[in-house]
Amino acid sequence: MSTIRVDPEKCILCGRCVETCPAHLFVMNETVTVREEEHCIECGHCIAICPEDAITHEKLDAMEFEIIGERKEISPEDMMHFLRSRRSCRVYLDREVPRDVVEQLLLAGRYAPTANNSQDVAFTVVQNPVSVKKVARMAAEFFGQTVEMLESSPEPLPPALQKNLRGMRMNYELALQGKDRVIRGAPMFIVVHASESISSQANCHYALLQMVLMAEALGLGNCINGYMVAAAEYVAEIRAELGVPEGSRVYGCMTLGYAKHRFRKIPPRREAAVQWR
Ligand SMILES: Cc1cc2nc3c(=O)[nH]c(=O)nc-3n(C[C@H](O)[C@H](O)[C@H](O)COP(=O)(O)O)c2cc1C
Repeated sequence: MSTIRVDPEKCILCGRCVETCPAHLFVMNETVTVREEEHCIECGHCIAICPEDAITHEKLDAMEFEIIGERKEISPEDMMHFLRSRRSCRVYLDREVPRDVVEQLLLAGRYAPTANNSQDVAFTVVQNPVSVKKVARMAAEFFGQTVEMLESSPEPLPPALQKNLRGMRMNYELALQGKDRVIRGAPMFIVVHASESISSQANCHYALLQMVLMAEALGLGNCINGYMVAAAEYVAEIRAELGVPEGSRVYGCMTLGYAKHRFRKIPPRREAAVQWR
């Protein structure tokens, strides 16, 4: 019994599925047939593109396919302004982000592309104030130990590490004064993790960026947080606190909340290193 079926009564032989399927599963003869369906990545493109609803897939519920209808265009000018005026936020109001708003972010993350449609990105939302503080403190302590270890090294440190030493030291020293520099007092953060595979890191990064952009659209301050990723990479207790399964790695983190300040200007960027060939 096949998983993917093309109803010959409905199919008009337009060839859209043949051209669109990433795995080349559809073949056009007198009718459209399906081959090697074990290689299907369940992306749903065949069903989404068919103008006659002629295709069904055992693993994809036709009722879950939402009609796109009139596409809401974003002008290139608006898009460019949106992208250029996004800024990392490190000063937050003491205000909780409602759950339905967080769920919109997660939806944006889920809809990021994943290699082979693997959809392997998992999210940990840390919003409970006790957990937020606990994990931030654990990360700060990790940086304290790391700085101590690096500074006692008899070998000269590589320049890149030298550069990071100050930030790591500040993370720890400010934590001793009861100030949080790791996540900057954000009321919440989201960690993205995945079972380790050839594309899991990239998948997590794209999901994270979609959430960053969605957060911006929702009027939420946010900042990608490499400190938390580094701490989670090295400290098993942090991974346990975040509910990261064995064999999974934390690839990304973003802090979130309502920004205390609003940026007035777009800072310049260095010229892009571009080659045209
Ligand atoms: C991979 C990555 C890791 C980052 N880690 C941190 C971090 O741990 N703490 C922080 O305050 N900002 C962090 N940032 C934010 C960058 O500092 C910020 O994107 C950069 O300074 C440019 O500012 P903008 O985002 O406002 O354009 C990180 C950004 C990226 C892409």
